[in-house]
Amino acid sequence: MDSALPENSRAMNEKNLKLVQQCLKQFDVTEKQLRQIQAAILQDMEQALSRQTDPSPTVQMLPTYVRSTPHGTEQGNFLVLELGTSGATLRVLWVTLRGTTGPRKEPVSWEFTIPTEITLGTGQQLFDFAAGCLVEFLDRLKVGSQPIQLGFNFSFPCHQTGLDQSTLISWTKGFRCSGVEGQDVVQLLREAIQRQGAYNIDVVAVVNDTVGTMMSCDPRPQACEIGLVVDTGTNACYMEEARHVGELGEDQGRVCVNVQWGSFGDSGALEPVQTPFDLQLDQESLNPGTQRFEKMVGGLYLGELVRLVLIHLAGQRALFGGVTSPALLTRGSVHIEHVMEIEDPSHGRARAQAVLQGLGLNPSAQDYEQVQQVCGAVSARAARLCAAALTAILARVKSNQERSHLGVAVATGGRVYEQHPRFSTILQQTVRLLAPDSDTTFVPSEDGGGWGVAVVTAVASRLALHRHHLEETLAPFRLDSEQLKAVQAEMREAMVRGLQGEDSTLPMLPTYVCATPDGTERGDFLALDLGGTNFRVLWVKVGSRSEGGVKITNQVFSIPESVTQGTGQQLFDHIVDCIVDFQKEHGLSGQTLPLGFTFSFPCKQVGLDQGILLSWTKGFKASDCEGQDVVSLLRAAIRRRQGVELNVVAIVNDTVGTMMSCGYEDPHCEVGLIVGTGTNACYMEELCNVSAVPGDKGRMCINMEWGAFGDDGLLKELCTPFDISVDKSSINPGKQRFEKLISGMYLGEIVRQILLHLTCLGVLFRGQVFQCLQTKDIFKTKFLSEIESDLQRRQVRAILEKLGLPVSCDDALMVREVCQAVSQRAAKLCGAGVAAVVEKIRENRGLEELSVAVGVDGTLYKLHPHFSDQVKDTVRHLAPRCSVRFLQSEDGSGKGAALVTAVACRLAGSTRP
Ligand code: BG6
Ligand code: GLC
Ligand code: GLC
Repeated sequence: MDSALPENSRAMNEKNLKLVQQCLKQFDVTEKQLRQIQAAILQDMEQALSRQTDPSPTVQMLPTYVRSTPHGTEQGNFLVLELGTSGATLRVLWVTLRGTTGPRKEPVSWEFTIPTEITLGTGQQLFDFAAGCLVEFLDRLKVGSQPIQLGFNFSFPCHQTGLDQSTLISWTKGFRCSGVEGQDVVQLLREAIQRQGAYNIDVVAVVNDTVGTMMSCDPRPQACEIGLVVDTGTNACYMEEARHVGELGEDQGRVCVNVQWGSFGDSGALEPVQTPFDLQLDQESLNPGTQRFEKMVGGLYLGELVRLVLIHLAGQRALFGGVTSPALLTRGSVHIEHVMEIEDPSHGRARAQAVLQGLGLNPSAQDYEQVQQVCGAVSARAARLCAAALTAILARVKSNQERSHLGVAVATGGRVYEQHPRFSTILQQTVRLLAPDSDTTFVPSEDGGGWGVAVVTAVASRLALHRHHLEETLAPFRLDSEQLKAVQAEMREAMVRGLQGEDSTLPMLPTYVCATPDGTERGDFLALDLGGTNFRVLWVKVGSRSEGGVKITNQVFSIPESVTQGTGQQLFDHIVDCIVDFQKEHGLSGQTLPLGFTFSFPCKQVGLDQGILLSWTKGFKASDCEGQDVVSLLRAAIRRRQGVELNVVAIVNDTVGTMMSCGYEDPHCEVGLIVGTGTNACYMEELCNVSAVPGDKGRMCINMEWGAFGDDGLLKELCTPFDISVDKSSINPGKQRFEKLISGMYLGEIVRQILLHLTCLGVLFRGQVFQCLQTKDIFKTKFLSEIESDLQRRQVRAILEKLGLPVSCDDALMVREVCQAVSQRAAKLCGAGVAAVVEKIRENRGLEELSVAVGVDGTLYKLHPHFSDQVKDTVRHLAPRCSVRFLQSEDGSGKGAALVTAVACRLAGSTRP
């Protein structure tokens, strides 16, 4: 075609083309620059999250109090008011959410145009106008007088302090109503609604449009964790770990953060890519110097940038033959809609021509093409900048998830993103270029985010209800100081009664251990350790400290349930078999070493080597043992196994073994405590207080068997329905009631019962009662330790998913709260017990202040991240006059049993003539 032009016009055209191209070059942003912008935004985001102010970050990172992406189960009718997304329009929607059932119902929605005098008027005028629109809408919809829950989509930077509390930081885009900045916009809206007085509307939640967009997307197959809006303005939100949000001061869960990236670059970071047109646009805007990024990307500004470029090019005579028009010279005359029409190839030239003619211009064919290039350059730059910002968020999400490959879905919304012919394509291409290792899916939001606002509103009311159920369920587990003092006092009374031989749930069993080791014990011993997680046989060499003190060789043997719950003969034969194997393995066959037997069950002792089993506890139930002397049963088994000689010297409870074991290191250790499969304590009591043993002088270690505390119904008030159910389905209903509130054998079961209850209430696992939740003992107590140690909740999810429970983020959080409530109660009750013991020792000795050490063992105590601290805190609180050190036994109570045996041998040796 050009060849048909006269020579001089062709030259002129080429010159014009060059001028245009030269001018548009300024809108090029190189890949390197995009990467720099991405890095700068990421840095700003991190600084803003951790509230660093030097240098001051320009993105705001505002927590939104939206803590989970939609479930898809939300239901109900919601009124949505949308203000600030699309220019000077206000939308009202009536959204019906039907959960997972029923077809989707289209929302009813209306748009109202806000007159300019209102966008620039007073706040009261604006909110009265909005409330008026609501009333008009509801009148037409004929909703009647039902209570209405409203979600407020308010798309301006706000500082939220709750789901329904939000203070406007500053107006952006074309708004500047007086008296609103610094005010709670929810309150202003509520007041305006009240002034109308027509409907019973509760403003339940306020959200930014990005959040509405993120929440609008169908959670299947993958929930969107990022929301992106490019409309009049631009912005994004995403799900961040709450512990990274300095302002929240929380360590659990996630929260949606409104990035407010429109203000990125307000301190100069965008200078390398800014053109003189950007500077002019900024200077002439309502808010000069602010929202610099938004002014390069948001739809309110793209038309204006195009206008400024066109005027410039016309001035250079590169366009319109150098002629402008009054309309082109008027600020705001080129809208984003114009830009989109000019760029849209499907419209052909006619629409573009109409737009330009509408601006009073008279474009040539070449003008038309060049104007299209101008629009293309401005919008392509916007899309690329927006992509750079989005990849900063992707990088952040990826580092949170600590995954090398990221699969993430981004919900998208806003007229520019949705309607511009090339914006989304360029943005997506650039995202792939800048974040090649992220597998990013872009999901268009429903109804411009209105749907999502309804979802947040539904979630807000659902969460409030769930929290209420959770709090109500866990309240009885949260014991206060008075309750703990009462437990301590009752324990103390039961101790005294037990010692005096009166009716008491605490048998206060004499152990015939009267002294802690003095370090002069020597020799080789065998020890057995039965009743905890593991059955062990040990070879203990006790030497002088210079020879290295105590050396232990031990081996764990399994005892099948068929044996723990079979006959006594089977059990003791099995034990002897294990000893024989051990001796063979360690070259001890044929030697008759003195043997100490840690037997962690309640035994009535009449001497060191005689213990009558009162009752099995924990998971044991071998027949024909209760009421029998355990040492005799062991000796009988030794006899049955011919050719084996063993010299059983002492039978020791694990609490006593632990006390002795720690006592070897620290002579102040006068209490033994076990919090493992079971729980129990022993301590050094004045012999004069022990009615079952003659003699008034000295002390004897008393095995309290505190697991049975409360078996008379004393703890009834503290027991929840979950405890009752755990007790009922245990092997020993009605027995060991204190132990069943504290020890490892039961805590997992209590948690399972609570989870089951919360699931039935619909609070957990979307109300689906899975088979595994109904399976006894599936929830191990070690899970409590793992779940409570795990700040990132990955463990929580892994554990629950392995059990077959599909967990949402909220579920994981709530399960952890349940575990915490159960383990805290256990630790506090245990602390109340210890407080009773140390106080008794202090009073026995008539001391103002007591300094004492407690030797402790047991998997729960050792593995749980907070249990020991909570026990210590409780003891400090309930026994303020005792200074109590807790020593963890490192070698188990088998070592203690060997030491008891050594002491016995030493004493026997010294009494020998
Ligand atoms: C161990 C003892 O150290 O602690 C056992 O050797 C005792 O005898 C145990 O029963 C308690 O812990 P758990 O968790 O194994 O029951
Ligand atoms: C402006 C607002 C922001 C909003 C965005 C998109 O940047 O400040 O809150 O999300 O526009 O509408
Ligand atoms: C059970 C036993 C007790 C033991 C405790 C800890 O309560 O009855 O003897 O000390 O568990 O293992």
